[in-house]
Amino acid sequence: MGDGVIREFTGGDLWAAALLLAERQVRHRGRHPLLPAEYEDPQVALGEVTAAWETEGASGAVLLEGGEVTGYLLGAPKSSLTWGNNVWVERAGHAVREPEKVRDLYAVAATKWVADGKTAQYALVPDDAELLDAWFRLGFGSQHAHAVMPIPAEPLPPRPGVTVRRAGRGDIQMLAELDLVLPQHQRLAPTFSSGELPTLEEALTDWEESIDDQEYATFVAESNGKVIGSSIGCSVEKSSAHSGLAQPDNAGLLAFAAVFPQARGAGAGRALGEAVINWAAGVGYTSVVTDWRVTNLLSSRAWPRLGFVQTFHRLHRVIGH
Ligand SMILES: CC(C)(COP(=O)(O)OP(=O)(O)OC[C@H]1O[C@@H](n2cnc3c(N)ncnc32)[C@H](O)[C@@H]1OP(=O)(O)O)[C@@H](O)C(=O)NCCC(=O)NCCS
Repeated sequence: MGDGVIREFTGGDLWAAALLLAERQVRHRGRHPLLPAEYEDPQVALGEVTAAWETEGASGAVLLEGGEVTGYLLGAPKSSLTWGNNVWVERAGHAVREPEKVRDLYAVAATKWVADGKTAQYALVPDDAELLDAWFRLGFGSQHAHAVMPIPAEPLPPRPGVTVRRAGRGDIQMLAELDLVLPQHQRLAPTFSSGELPTLEEALTDWEESIDDQEYATFVAESNGKVIGSSIGCSVEKSSAHSGLAQPDNAGLLAFAAVFPQARGAGAGRALGEAVINWAAGVGYTSVVTDWRVTNLLSSRAWPRLGFVQTFHRLHRVIGH
């Protein structure tokens, strides 16, 4: 570690951290120009680091080399039980001049996290190969992908054998059934998600209330006159998972898609994703964002085929075994 010193993160480190985060955003935008440029300005990046630091229960570490802050790491717990007894390093939760140093920072920050019982750990890491490698050598593995794609120059043509149309009130029953398809699928191997599984009644009630909400564009796919799948598009601003420096300017979101098991693999998922992309183009968005569990063998293959390119990796580690 050379002459570096690592100590606890304090409020006095925010500006130095913002400078590092702004540098990270410059590098990240070198690979993904669709990510927002404003966070290349340390003043703007400061808002992101400050929010991470002011999150309840936040703690972390900074690395000083030659008197200069050259790395920081910040984590905070989320209250949802879904994540276990957790700590999250969110999108603005770390930046380092030298990727390897994230391991030294983690060693200090995680001493407190683990002492506090925060053994389910998550980190949102830009797709920087060296940085990811350093996290992998901290025992973290890939759990979730965040991705973006530009709007295609021309509207995408319809797919043979499947009709996609906007959903209406008459589709509520099928939409509710399709709502269960994603969590049901993700409970299975190899995803093993513990995500909530709503009841059909809950899904029906939700759709009764939300079907006319103009802020969401809902599509259904039909084959031989039967609904076989659905997808939903909306503004990326609806999603907290894609906010701040992970939120491309003027972007739509592919928020949901599901195809019944027996109808998969025949092009309906692509047609439903493309309907959202065409809808986003029509609204005037310049890109579309989505995310998926990397262990979901279906979405992790389908969405890259449509042109989505991964920007962030959510990594996960469980301590104690
Ligand atoms: C993800 C899902 C919506 C995709 O729908 P689908 O009808 O199965 O997908 P498609 O048949 O349209 O295939 C989409 C693309 O993925 C590719 N693909 C599908 N299965 C694949 C596999 N096993 N290996 C490699 N590529 C595969 C297809 O070839 C296609 O690309 P192409 O058109 O360039 O050939 C559907 O599988 C599903 O409902 N899964 C469960 C719920 C879910 O995961 N939803 C997504 C939430 S993020």
